[in-house]
Amino acid sequence: MPESSKSSSEIRRIGILTGGGDAPGLNAVIRAVVKAATNAGREAIGLEDSFDGLIELDRWRKLTPRDVTGILRIGGTILGTVNRGNPFHAPIATSGGTMGYATRCIEVFHQLELDGLVVIGGDGTLAIAHEFHKLGLPLVGVPKTIDNDIVETTNTFGFDTAVSFATDAIDRLHTTAQSHHRVMVVEVMGRYAGWIALYAGVAGGADAILIPEIPFDVQKVAQHIRAREAYGARFSIVVVAEGATPLGAGVTLQKAANGGYVERLGGIGAQVTADLERLTGKEARTVVLGHLQRGGSPTSFDRMLATRFGARAVELLLDAQFGTMVAFHPPEIVAVPLEKVVGRTRNVPVDFDVVRAARAMGITLGD
Ligand code: F6P
Repeated sequence: MPESSKSSSEIRRIGILTGGGDAPGLNAVIRAVVKAATNAGREAIGLEDSFDGLIELDRWRKLTPRDVTGILRIGGTILGTVNRGNPFHAPIATSGGTMGYATRCIEVFHQLELDGLVVIGGDGTLAIAHEFHKLGLPLVGVPKTIDNDIVETTNTFGFDTAVSFATDAIDRLHTTAQSHHRVMVVEVMGRYAGWIALYAGVAGGADAILIPEIPFDVQKVAQHIRAREAYGARFSIVVVAEGATPLGAGVTLQKAANGGYVERLGGIGAQVTADLERLTGKEARTVVLGHLQRGGSPTSFDRMLATRFGARAVELLLDAQFGTMVAFHPPEIVAVPLEKVVGRTRNVPVDFDVVRAARAMGITLGD
C-alpha cells in the first residue's frame, strides 16, 4: 500500500523538520505540532538539520510537551536547519557505497517507523517536500520565510517579526538622519519580493522604497531628496530590498551561486548610498539589517500564525490530506496542494494598495 493512502488511525508517529533559512516562529510551530500530536495520542519525533535528519539514524529525538515548554517565544529552531539548495540529486555515501539522497531519506523514514511528516520551510524546502510526496511520503508543509514570498498564503510566519524589527530600525535611524541632515539608506532582506521593504518602509515613514518588483532610477530618488531639501526636510530615509535592481541592471551579488548554494545577494544599499551622495551632494550612510531580521522573539501575530499552522498541520495529517501546505486565507487556516505552490514566487503586485498608499504618502518607488 503506498504511504499516501494511510488512514488517520495509522498515523501514530509524526516526524517534524525545519529547512532553509531560519525565521522567528519556527520553534512556535514545532511546539504546536508536538502538543497537538501528543494531545491527539500520537508521538512526535524531531529530525535534525532539515532532511539531513533522515540520512543518518542518530539525528532524531522524541519530543514531548516537556521538551517544547518555553520555546514559543524563542527565535531560531531547536532542530537546526540547512540552507543550501536542493540536495535531491546529490548522492550520499553509506557504508555500502553511494546511494541517492531521496532513497536514503525514504529508507530512514521507514526505519524510524514514521507515519507522517511535517515539513516547515520556504520555497526550496517545500519543493523538496513536494518531490518526496510524489515518491509516496505522507507529509504536510508549513510555509516559513521572513520574505513572505510563498504563493497561496497571505502570510508566512516570520514576516511580521522582520517587519517590526526593520520598522524599529528605521525609527532609530530617523533621529540620527535628522540630527546630521543626512541620507540614511537601509538595506533589508527580500531576494525576489519587496514585502519587508514595502511594509517597514511605509510603517517607518521612509521617503523612498526600492523593491525588486519595480526597477528604480536613482536619479528619480535623488530628485525626490533634493525636493525634500527644498521644502526644508534636510534628511531622507531610503529603504532598499537586497534584490532591488537599478533600471536595466541585475541584482547586486556578494557571492555567485556554487555547489548547491544559491547566489548571495547584498551590496545594493552601499551602491545606492554612493550614487545618492554623488547626485545630491549630501552626506549619506548605509545600514544593512541582514540576519538581524531573522533573529529575536516572534511577534504575537507570528506566534498566533505559527501555532495555528502547527495545529492545522497535525489535523491535516490525521485527516490523511497529504501533499498539502497549510495556508492563511484570512480569517481561516486552509489546506492548499503543494503542487500549486512550488516553482512560484509571491511578488508584490505593482498596483497593490500598499504600493498606492506609499505613493499617496509621497514616498518615491524610484520609477
Ligand atoms: O529567504 C530569506 C532570506 O532571508 C533572504 O532574504 C536572504 O537572501 C537569504 O534568506 C539569506 O540566507 P542565508 O544567508 O542564511 O543563506
